Amino acid sequence: MNFSRIIGTGSYLPPKILSNHDLEEFVDTSDQWIVERTGIRQRHAAEEASACDLAEVAAQRAIAAAGKQADDIDLIVLGTSTPDLVFPSTACLLQGRLGITNGGAAFDVNAACAGFAFALATADNFVRAGASRCALVVGSEVMTRLMDWTDRGTCVLFGDGAGAVVLEASEEPGILSTHVHADGRHESLLNVSAGVSRHAERWREEGAFLRMKGNEVFRMAVNTLGRIVDETLAANGLEKSDVDWLVPHQANIRIIQATAKKLGLPMEQVVLTVAEHGNTSSASIPLALDLAIRDGRIQRGDMLLLEAFGGGFTWGSALVRY
Ligand code: ACO
Repeated sequence: MNFSRIIGTGSYLPPKILSNHDLEEFVDTSDQWIVERTGIRQRHAAEEASACDLAEVAAQRAIAAAGKQADDIDLIVLGTSTPDLVFPSTACLLQGRLGITNGGAAFDVNAACAGFAFALATADNFVRAGASRCALVVGSEVMTRLMDWTDRGTCVLFGDGAGAVVLEASEEPGILSTHVHADGRHESLLNVSAGVSRHAERWREEGAFLRMKGNEVFRMAVNTLGRIVDETLAANGLEKSDVDWLVPHQANIRIIQATAKKLGLPMEQVVLTVAEHGNTSSASIPLALDLAIRDGRIQRGDMLLLEAFGGGFTWGSALVRY
């Protein structure tokens, strides 16, 4: 049986930082409110850079950490809901930028904040099926482009960044299991209110922004993530105590604390980036993973639980023997 294992990680944050105090200058909010309700202190902003620009640096770092050449990559799956263009996909643009000419597949996955969990599950299944031997999985987002900077309920939450992992086919896991789900009935609670085939005029005329009924999404996220933790451990016949590290999507410190509590895991075993990065959507898990691997907290052999919840609604998890 083929498994996939993570052989390298990389990430990139654009240099411009927007602190909570910076936001106080133009929206009716306070550092105290944002820190108490979300745990966020600052976020990075891409300014002119695109999702592919951020992804390129993260991918190069992941490929270097894996000890591979770009042309070894035979599959790119890229999670984003802020693509450069409608098409080519950001994954295809990235393949071109990396100079990959081997004809491997490259495509985007849009599962909002669960984008990386969906991209990882997709790539893992390609590797398990023997359709890829070396896959690049990326989450890259420029969420600041979707902000209504007068809506204090959303504009304080999001930031920009990219993270990437390289997967390689292996006899041993690796990724033990992935779990992805959706419930498409909740558009009204979390959406971006225009696309190409619906309300396209809004992009030009009144603007199209991310809208969220935060407290309803909050309740749904806490309950759903609690369930997926149980599902993931049960699928592998494991106990909560077998998990060494929780690497969660970073939307809100209170959601993360609730999931850690459900796992009986002290916060010292949770990788947290929400204070410095805010919610970078698809990028948040690979950013957190790369940080904790590079600073030596996550060691080879550790058991990692990755989980995310996002617009759709979508939610997903992966259990990984690193
Ligand atoms: N500064 C000051 N006050 C604010 C701000 C702000 N930035 N934002 C909202 N408030 C006010 C509200 O107006 C409200 O005031 P009122 O009581 O006078 O009406 C009060 O604070 C409470 O507002 P709530 O929305 O109830 O605050 P809550 O504690 O729920 O926190 C938050 C809001 C942070 C958005 C939280 O609900 C949350 O994190 N939700 C989940 C986000 C998430 O996980 N999203 C999924 C992923 S995102 C994706 O997929 C793209």
